[in-house]
Amino acid sequence: MIGIFDSGVGGMTVARAIEKICPGFPLVYFGDIAHTPYGSKSPDTIIRYSKNNTDFLLEQGASLIVIACNSASSTASDELRSHYSVPILDVITPATIKAAVLTQSRRIGVIGTRATVQSDIYRKRIQEIIPDSMIFSQACPLLVSLVEEGWLSRRESKMIIRRYLHPLRLKQIDTLVLGCTHYPLLKHLIGPRIGHRVKLIDSSVEMAMAVSDFMEQNADIKHRLEQSRSQQSRFYVSDSTEAVENMASKIFGRPIHLEKVRV
Ligand code: DGL
Repeated sequence: MIGIFDSGVGGMTVARAIEKICPGFPLVYFGDIAHTPYGSKSPDTIIRYSKNNTDFLLEQGASLIVIACNSASSTASDELRSHYSVPILDVITPATIKAAVLTQSRRIGVIGTRATVQSDIYRKRIQEIIPDSMIFSQACPLLVSLVEEGWLSRRESKMIIRRYLHPLRLKQIDTLVLGCTHYPLLKHLIGPRIGHRVKLIDSSVEMAMAVSDFMEQNADIKHRLEQSRSQQSRFYVSDSTEAVENMASKIFGRPIHLEKVRV
């Protein structure tokens, strides 16, 4: 199975994209809702949670791990790769490649959680590809809570987004990376606010395409994943509320049963 984890429901945007781009490969998802948000935690804590999540997904039969969380990818992916022998894919690499391909002005904005922005990983990775690019980052810590609460079109959400995007609007960027897997759910508010001229990079779609490419290039893993084809996708959470259940079903466009587990 393809194992996917996030701090909450945001990673379901990645899971849904993988389901569409890699149909027939069952998923096992874990949303660590009891500990969300990761983006305001220290690196040590994010690494500890990420290891627990990975252990759980491996116990459930995952043979590939997708870190569908930018905060965990930026902080814990090196540690996870050195600790586990299964392939670990992080959500940041595909988005940085796409940003480098799409930008023409070489002025790129990145929005994310505090942990992701403080790690400076998008700037480092994009500048490895385009050394003279200018990266402007903005932490948007409140957006994760808005999504987890289901406040996707509220006036208050629009006001908060306007406030966060204001500094980036002054930087004349031509590309904006949605550097948090919760943010695709707010794309309809972010796009008009940053301006239609700015291309938005939805890391969930880029991640799903990277999973598909990975399977094509790694026949042994693809073969192992194919052996799980008869299984149903499963969705686990460490805590659940009605808002979370509703959001999960909204993301997938069908009722999603979330099983609560202690990890
Ligand atoms: N969806 C997560 C991310 O991509 C994060 C949120 C959080 O828990 O802070 O960073």
